Amino acid sequence: MSATKVRTGPLAVFEANLLAGHVALVTGGGTGICRGIAQAFAACGADVCIVGRKGEVLAQTAAEMSAATGRDIFFVPCDVRQPDAVADAIAQTIAKFGHLDTVVNGAAGNFLAPAAALSANGFRTVVDIDLCGTFNVARAAFEALRLGGRGLIINISATLHYGGTPLQIHASAAKAGVDAVTRNLAVEWGQFGIRVNGIAPGPIAETEGMRRLAGSAADKAKASVPLGRFGAIEEIAAAAVFLRSSAAAYITGTTLVVDGGQSVVAAAAHMMMT
Ligand code: COA
Repeated sequence: MSATKVRTGPLAVFEANLLAGHVALVTGGGTGICRGIAQAFAACGADVCIVGRKGEVLAQTAAEMSAATGRDIFFVPCDVRQPDAVADAIAQTIAKFGHLDTVVNGAAGNFLAPAAALSANGFRTVVDIDLCGTFNVARAAFEALRLGGRGLIINISATLHYGGTPLQIHASAAKAGVDAVTRNLAVEWGQFGIRVNGIAPGPIAETEGMRRLAGSAADKAKASVPLGRFGAIEEIAAAAVFLRSSAAAYITGTTLVVDGGQSVVAAAAHMMMT
């Protein structure tokens, strides 16, 4: 019997059973981009646990995702800043599905704040969630990822820190650290068959950040993207499915930028554009 296609759009190229037998834990999977990744994994046949701070958000997302994919979506409320809670979420996922081979580190916190007005606690909070949370989850998942010999960690990064980004010193510092974690773990854990990669999304429609942009600000933001549009959550999810697939078996230690080319526009380019 030929495999059925998953859905239309960017995910249509993937077969419905592409990730059958895989078990993925997705932090930040209750909303936004990581919800899209979790749903794409499930739609491709993976067992999925979504993790986030708010149980009621996770419960609703899990129910909707179940209805959309026909799969049992597991969820565990957990703050990635708490290593013991993270270890418990991983143990619960393994108890539920038997093993764990994939972790997506997407839990993040952010807000706009000028550096001169940002408190030490504000800076530390975002670094704690984005960077320390990424390490906490990777560290707690290590034994499980090693066991199966096909472990994968996907760290959700950003493009903020490729230059200086106003009002984002905390998130930029955190994501620069996340990229360092990606490279270091790839080097240390490659010997255990664990691949470690990042995805750096550009401006993605239907996310909290982009929803805040309206009118001329949105038009200006679109004009800054060589492809002339915002990306779709499913386009980030497609990158994650690709990285999980055997097509990416030799890819580790890299961060895949999915931003319509926005981050490679030279700073001086605006002088040549109308
Ligand atoms: N501007 C400046 N500082 C801010 C801030 C803002 N908009 N929001 C939070 N902070 C500071 C707080 O003032 C506090 O520092 P202080 O103790 O010196 O006053 C520190 O950050 C911690 O904030 P708090 O809200 O207590 O932490 P939390 O752990 O409950 O939540 C966030 C942290 C980042 C998740 C929270 O600010 C938030 O909900 N942000 C928006 C939602 C979000 O991040 N979504 C994900 C987008 S990727």
